[in-house]
Amino acid sequence: RASVEHGLHYTPDDVAPRRRSRFGARQPWEDAPEFRNAVDTDPAVAEHREWAKRVTGPDSGFVPVQAPEVTSTDEIDAAVARAVAVRDAWAAVAPADRAKVLRAAARELEAARTELVAAAVHEPGKTVAEADPEVSEAIDFANYYAGAAEALAQVEGAAFAPEGVTLVTPPWNFPVAIPIGGVLASLAAGSPVLAKPAPPTPRCFELAVDAVHRALDAVAPQIGLAPEVPRDVVQFLRVPDGELGKHLVTHADVSRVILTGSIETAELFASWRPERPVFAETSGKNALVVTPSADLDLAVADLVRSAFGHAGQKCSAASLVILVGSVGDPTTVTGERFRRQLVDAVRSLAVGDPRELSTVMGPLTEPAQGKLLRALTSLEPGESWLVEPRRLDDVAAAAGIDPDRLWSPGLRDGVAPGSFFHLTEVFGPVLGIMRAKDLDEAIRLQNQVSFGLTAGLHSLDEDEIATWLDRVEAGNVYVNRHITGAIVQRQSFGGWKASVVGPGAKAGGPNYVAQLGAWSDDAAVV
Ligand code: ALA
Repeated sequence: RASVEHGLHYTPDDVAPRRRSRFGARQPWEDAPEFRNAVDTDPAVAEHREWAKRVTGPDSGFVPVQAPEVTSTDEIDAAVARAVAVRDAWAAVAPADRAKVLRAAARELEAARTELVAAAVHEPGKTVAEADPEVSEAIDFANYYAGAAEALAQVEGAAFAPEGVTLVTPPWNFPVAIPIGGVLASLAAGSPVLAKPAPPTPRCFELAVDAVHRALDAVAPQIGLAPEVPRDVVQFLRVPDGELGKHLVTHADVSRVILTGSIETAELFASWRPERPVFAETSGKNALVVTPSADLDLAVADLVRSAFGHAGQKCSAASLVILVGSVGDPTTVTGERFRRQLVDAVRSLAVGDPRELSTVMGPLTEPAQGKLLRALTSLEPGESWLVEPRRLDDVAAAAGIDPDRLWSPGLRDGVAPGSFFHLTEVFGPVLGIMRAKDLDEAIRLQNQVSFGLTAGLHSLDEDEIATWLDRVEAGNVYVNRHITGAIVQRQSFGGWKASVVGPGAKAGGPNYVAQLGAWSDDAAVV
């Protein structure tokens, strides 16, 4: 069922781990003593600038991926065989010792922050302000899953046993945190891992795997692990999509697959592996509802952040805003003000080179095509552009970016119930406006989507909030807050409805590690 994060109602009891980055907004509840990952040194802006220039500029030290691409099924079979050969040795490592490795991995990831940020800027085109907190999230995963491994000590050997080899196939949009999160969770559960990067972002994953290898090497002597084992416990395998990818995913010795990707890929994997586990978090078509009681300034800021962060290329992104009553009626004072503020905010976004600190929205990771190109370039019946997206050829040329990757954000009005834009994930910088006469209708529009990943409500009315929380169908639910950027432990991340395949425990939350092993029949997952 959904977990809720309420932007205006934190109490000290809600304090939980959080990311701290050079660029992320710091909130009072982010001062929990644990999970203090990010750089806590001088927060002076000038120093941040220098640091950002260093990690993104010509002297950043960014080098492309080092591992060669896998070219044959024999290479895949050999890698799987190596993983199987160390399966028992890794499963025999006590949960508390696995936790030591994960805590060492957290330190190594912090030590590699600069290289990881550089890679996440260079490969998918994230801005520094987006890449830096992602490294913090990776560190949070390491520390959180270390705790999960320690918790397994209570049940391992009695009700729980590590099981088999895990394949982790992550997306390119969170190229550090999601990939290494899957690896760390599998290690915590006692399974060796095959780490297959998304083709656009191999270096991000390779660097993170290197950090985990350094952690394994450092801790191996303390926990009695033979020195040759770590390289086989986590193997970085650049298997291309297509036939070789299918060979890996369907391999008889791959016990489970952790996938974060599109619904289409999840369905394909599930059809390739009938009867065998695929743990997938898939697509979203997420809406934020704004009622007349909302703090409209906050709603606009949160909408823009949710819709256009990483150019909208997040499964969690707000793709729709549903305006209730007068908020959607530009002939009223409220509606006119909201519309003007939203249009101004979208127009004001600085789009361009992700290496520039002034850039708020960087490029698409890959040239716009398919559903996204349709969403950027055409309207459906009844729709109109409040802000029309444009391909920014001049800016792209100056930055050396493929022009098909650089689009200004779009705001489309009049999205009709049941239409293409209402129901389809487009994964890019377009926000659609829908209208509802009351909250009831808004919730129906929100729930009409087949997915159920994130959802937001901006309202200061307690009855509205209670009604909405009771009825909205999404895994991650946000009140008076932006709807991307879930935080490990505090708001673990996962879907509902078509957004999830498999048991669906949420990443960075309870049971995520526990679901990755074998439980005796009479045991309840703890
Ligand atoms: N965990 C990512 C977010 O919450 C997907 O935006």
